[in-house]
Amino acid sequence: MDGARKLLRFLTCGSVDDGKSTLIGRLLYDSQLIFEDTLATLAKDSRKHGTTGEEIDLALLVDGLEAERQQGITIDVAYRFFATPRRSFIVADTPGHEQYTRNMATGASSASLAVILIDARKGVLTQTRRHSYICSLMGIRDIVVAVNKIDLVGFDEDVFDRIVGDYATFAAGLGFRSIVPIPLSARFGDNVTTRSGNTPWYHGPSLVEHLETVDVGQDLSARPFRFPVQWVNRPNLDFRGFAGTVAAGRIAPGDQVVVAASGKSSRVARIVTADGDLAAAEAGQAVTLTLEDEVDVARGDVLSTAADRPQVADQFAGHLLWMDEEAMLPGRSYMMRIGNVWTPCSVTSIRHRVDVNTLEEHAARRLSLNEIGFCNFSAGQQVPLDPYADNRATGAFILVDRFTNRTAGAGMVAFPLRRASNIHHEHFTVDKSARAALLGNAPLVLWFTGLSGSGKSTIANIAEQALHRAGRPTYTLDGDNVRHGLCRDLGFTAEDRVENIRRVGEVAKLFVDAGMIVLCSFISPFRAERRMVRDLLGPGEFVEVFVDTTIEACMARDPKGLYAKAQAGQIKNFTGIDSPYESPEAPELRIGTEGRTPAECAEEILVALRARGIAC
Ligand code: ADX
Repeated sequence: MDGARKLLRFLTCGSVDDGKSTLIGRLLYDSQLIFEDTLATLAKDSRKHGTTGEEIDLALLVDGLEAERQQGITIDVAYRFFATPRRSFIVADTPGHEQYTRNMATGASSASLAVILIDARKGVLTQTRRHSYICSLMGIRDIVVAVNKIDLVGFDEDVFDRIVGDYATFAAGLGFRSIVPIPLSARFGDNVTTRSGNTPWYHGPSLVEHLETVDVGQDLSARPFRFPVQWVNRPNLDFRGFAGTVAAGRIAPGDQVVVAASGKSSRVARIVTADGDLAAAEAGQAVTLTLEDEVDVARGDVLSTAADRPQVADQFAGHLLWMDEEAMLPGRSYMMRIGNVWTPCSVTSIRHRVDVNTLEEHAARRLSLNEIGFCNFSAGQQVPLDPYADNRATGAFILVDRFTNRTAGAGMVAFPLRRASNIHHEHFTVDKSARAALLGNAPLVLWFTGLSGSGKSTIANIAEQALHRAGRPTYTLDGDNVRHGLCRDLGFTAEDRVENIRRVGEVAKLFVDAGMIVLCSFISPFRAERRMVRDLLGPGEFVEVFVDTTIEACMARDPKGLYAKAQAGQIKNFTGIDSPYESPEAPELRIGTEGRTPAECAEEILVALRARGIAC
């Protein structure tokens, strides 16, 4: 793998206008990867869009998108290839704008070195700190501090020394192995490819010299073997192969492998590829493995060596970089992808939020866009994982918003939480169906959602009386009531409402397990949490009843005088006033209340229950 050893993946990061694009343009230009016709276009474009007068604007070479050119910023991750006689390179050009942290993290996740650009006139900025911290989080250990535009400060050694000192102080806690500062001018080429006569006081290498020789020591093939199974290939009864990409280590036929989750072991029989069988495979290669024995292996399992297995856990701690406009709320359910496993996952607590400017740790109840927290996570199933510091492939995960399907967070596993692995599920012989049979009942949850004053509790009260008269075992959970006990510590911020519904959902599930019909009346303004409760229960056990009353009608009724107070500014975060209500999109029942009595509304629910075979 000589070619792979020569390849260096790095990324450039810095603030807008620090000169990243110009630097990359310079690297491409100096390594003569630009062809004549490109140069001609570039000269023309430089006159049209450029910021360098009559000279060729190298930034235009890499700021490929027209939109970017016109805004004068870079807005996506662009990967560029270039080569010198000694090494080849893939550089990720990542944007400097604050809202594009996501792209930066994407670029950093596959890079082994980062070039942090600092404008010599501005010094270390918030962005410099943020990007360095993200690089450190993403496992980058080698840094180049490129103090750019050194020409604009008269090639002043003192300015350079001061910036380097500032950076070293800040970065001391980030765990970098090497920090190499280089004074340069991307625009004029000083210290980019060759050392510049304008900085006689600088005795280090040029940027390219350094990149050509730096040893980033990330030989994944030397690490313990990891093979996340992407799919099980079973074209016929005689062949059963496990397809995927070797994430770390190397493997050869005859080697013993262990399925991480089950601990079952076997030996590799063949390493199959489209071009024939291989004698060995190593990190980065996509192959299909067949085993000597029939062991259970499914998509998402990880094959490893027996001596060094990944951890298997459903609770773990790790860093989370939040990249979505909608804040991360602990308790909310997201989809997690780790390796080839997709499973629901939520943050059970934020241990602390990291202030990327000072690296201070703060308490936090949510993570907003671009914020980074150290959190405890709870996944829907046991998953094989490694600390990210040991293996970027098996220690990285993403969280996806369940409604928008946006990648909302990027996570790095720190360590599994042992407490969870010591708690088992006890199985009791008297179970839900036995209890339900004794009660002669089909247990379910009637989940009433709607604005405050919409009529949820009133209608639920009438429906429960009818069920009770008919001999059905019922229980009521009501927003106002549980907030005097179980949820007395919770207020009405979004994060508290998420926790409120999470607790109530778990309690409702217990009552269903007890065989009861549970009537839950909660504003439950977020569809994510209503969906979470639905997912806690079995098919058909969650009946969402949308008590659909307009805010105008609720305000006119105002049974508790709360709308009047909210409008007078005496209650904050009041649903419908200064806190949102997300209407259900497909509730089992939609009950319009205006112009009807509560008894008529309740009857509509009873009719629906009878249709489900519930005598009432
Ligand atoms: S939820 O949003 O978390 O589901 P829940 O149903 O438990 O709310 O509680 C709502 C009840 O609390 C309302 O019916 C109302 O009586 C009372 N309340 C007090 N403050 C607020 C507020 N800021 N927003 C909504 N309801 C409030």
